[in-house]
Amino acid sequence: MTRKPRATRRGGKPPANAASPGDLTEAQARREIARLSEEIRQHDAHYFTRDAPVVSDADYDALKQRLIALEEAFPALRQADSPTQTIGAPPAAAFSKVRHQVPMLSLANGFSADDIAEFFGRVRRFLGLPPETGLEVVAEPKIDGLSLSLRYEDGRLAQAATRGDGETGEDVTANVMTIADIPHTLAGKNLPRQIEVRGEVYMTRDDFLALNQAQKDAGRPLYVNPRNTAAGSLRQIDPTITASRPLHFFAYAWGALSAPQASTQMAFLERLEEWGLRRSPHTRLCQDEQQAQDHYDALVRLRPDLPFDIDGMVLKVNRLDWQGRLGAVSRSPRWAIAWKFPAEQTRTVVERITIQVGRTGALTPVAMLRPVTVGGVVVSRATLHNEDEIARKDIREGDTVIIQRAGDVIPQVVSVVLDKRPKDSRPYPFPTTCPECHSHAVREDGEVVRRCTGGLVCPAQAVERLRHFVSRNAFDIEGLGEKQIEAFFADGRIRTPADIFTLETRDGQIGPPLAERDGWGKTSAGNLFQAIAARRRMPLDRFINALGIRHVGLTTARVLARRYGDARSWVVAMTEVAGGNEAAKAGLLDIDGIGETVAHALADFFGEDHNLDVVNDLLQHVTPEPLAVVAKDSPVAGKTIVFTGTLARMSRDEAKARAEALGAHVAGSVSARTDIVVAGEKAGSKARRAAELNVQILSEDEWLTLVGEEA
Ligand code: IVH
Repeated sequence: MTRKPRATRRGGKPPANAASPGDLTEAQARREIARLSEEIRQHDAHYFTRDAPVVSDADYDALKQRLIALEEAFPALRQADSPTQTIGAPPAAAFSKVRHQVPMLSLANGFSADDIAEFFGRVRRFLGLPPETGLEVVAEPKIDGLSLSLRYEDGRLAQAATRGDGETGEDVTANVMTIADIPHTLAGKNLPRQIEVRGEVYMTRDDFLALNQAQKDAGRPLYVNPRNTAAGSLRQIDPTITASRPLHFFAYAWGALSAPQASTQMAFLERLEEWGLRRSPHTRLCQDEQQAQDHYDALVRLRPDLPFDIDGMVLKVNRLDWQGRLGAVSRSPRWAIAWKFPAEQTRTVVERITIQVGRTGALTPVAMLRPVTVGGVVVSRATLHNEDEIARKDIREGDTVIIQRAGDVIPQVVSVVLDKRPKDSRPYPFPTTCPECHSHAVREDGEVVRRCTGGLVCPAQAVERLRHFVSRNAFDIEGLGEKQIEAFFADGRIRTPADIFTLETRDGQIGPPLAERDGWGKTSAGNLFQAIAARRRMPLDRFINALGIRHVGLTTARVLARRYGDARSWVVAMTEVAGGNEAAKAGLLDIDGIGETVAHALADFFGEDHNLDVVNDLLQHVTPEPLAVVAKDSPVAGKTIVFTGTLARMSRDEAKARAEALGAHVAGSVSARTDIVVAGEKAGSKARRAAELNVQILSEDEWLTLVGEEA
């Protein structure tokens, strides 16, 4: 399977922080190739079977490029079924577009008997049916294939088109002509002058397995599932290839129609059959909801033994005049519903448990599974959520487990099959260090997630941390936003905060000078260097906030900055706290607004040498400035103030900073303890609450006068 060709972009996930292939040992390369292959296969499955990719194209391309590079460096490790040995699917542009005369709709989904009862209720209400009037529905298996529209003119197959976006599909007439189930001419007399027959193209499970066996024998890549394979087969440029693939077709609906053919869904299906089209077995006319439920139960039981994949049961109002009255809302008819089957479960083996590090440092365990098909796709990994989940279910490497996919979500491990547990199995020891950067991974009280403390040095977190570093309440460097940080990280210009301040002196050493980079010129590069230079002095609170220490945001940073005065004193004190110095810790906890959580977070941060390195490196380039001395005799010293509404003269952040500089305490909500509410424009509930509590309310101008600034 290959995706549509697209430009390959740099800057995706693995190349950003991965070792160059030449630097890897064979064992390392083997592991990475296995991991990448699995990941790419998963993404392919998402992309092809669900039309719902979970990664950006750029990230996907980056994974693939990395795999190609590794396989080139280690040709012996290239697997026959590697996703780099892709099956050529033709570009979409190879087929001409066909506009459907009547759009191809999709179906609303129901997941429970309640949903189906609601469907019956909705239909009855819409049609105004009295309780004694019956509501017949046709129940059909929901075939897991791809829908196709066949236009017959005077009984001859004139054109076949895929669904596409529902309005416009692709002309696959030549390929469809090779499918034995689809007659080139309709049988019988009194055929409509024109009809669009709609139905599902599918491949049987046996044919799918045989095809995959042949692929395997020939050392070619394997297909993901029958549905996918049917789709790929239909979209071959060369019809002889399609002809060699065993495709089938069931008819179940129609689009444009020159003359009515029946008055019920069931009669129409029979008509289609008379013309030589096949319809799905296990289709039943149900007199009421109970019969629909019975048929659903029967299909659930039949499902594992059916020759083709089905993923639910479709209910359709039988009377076509009623279908007409019901019509459609948005993209699906009101007269039909797809009743999906419960999540399919299956057994497989947990070959390994690996740990993924997220952008915020969260360690997520992932079960690497022996690949199995469940719910129509091959699954080779499942999330294990966190260490408590592993402990609760006691999931171990080597265990046989039951997994399921519910709807479109990531597969889950339901339980362990204990009597299949290997004798030498051991509980999984959850790592206490980060697999990416080897920093400590800690778990805070009351938290389920274990987090890497590597912060700025952890490759998994670096970009996120750098983004925070340059954000508005931190270094706020003009021209250096999220986009630029990502790009500069990818090309190696900026890996740590200190790199920002040597960007100019190193310019031209990594790749071309910035002025020659895409999207940059002399002026913009010069402006950026200037903006960076302007931040070599920085208020201490913003400097502390920029470090991204857990639980230390701007407010806490300000409290710390006030207490410790200058950067050096603060760093020394924090290092002492981390080293277990009780006096230093007591001093920290003494500060109003600092509790155990913050103290812990600071100790964790400064307990890591690499964090200290980052701070010290940064201090080589940046001079944090002590905050303005708090005016003890200001009219608002010690008062609690709440700002609300839109301020005209300054941002809320700035107003807050100034109030604090004057010794006020700024709170977020109004209470009896509030002394002053400053109400800007469109002040809402907070101003009302202040009035109720008899708290003094000032306009922005009155406030500025009070604190001695010109209004
Ligand atoms: S009727 C106007 N009947 O399910 C309603 N669809 O989720 C058109 N499908 O795109 C669809 N079996 O590809 C209908 N017996 C069946 C079906 C069926 C499978 C597919 C079809 C459609 C999708 C909607």
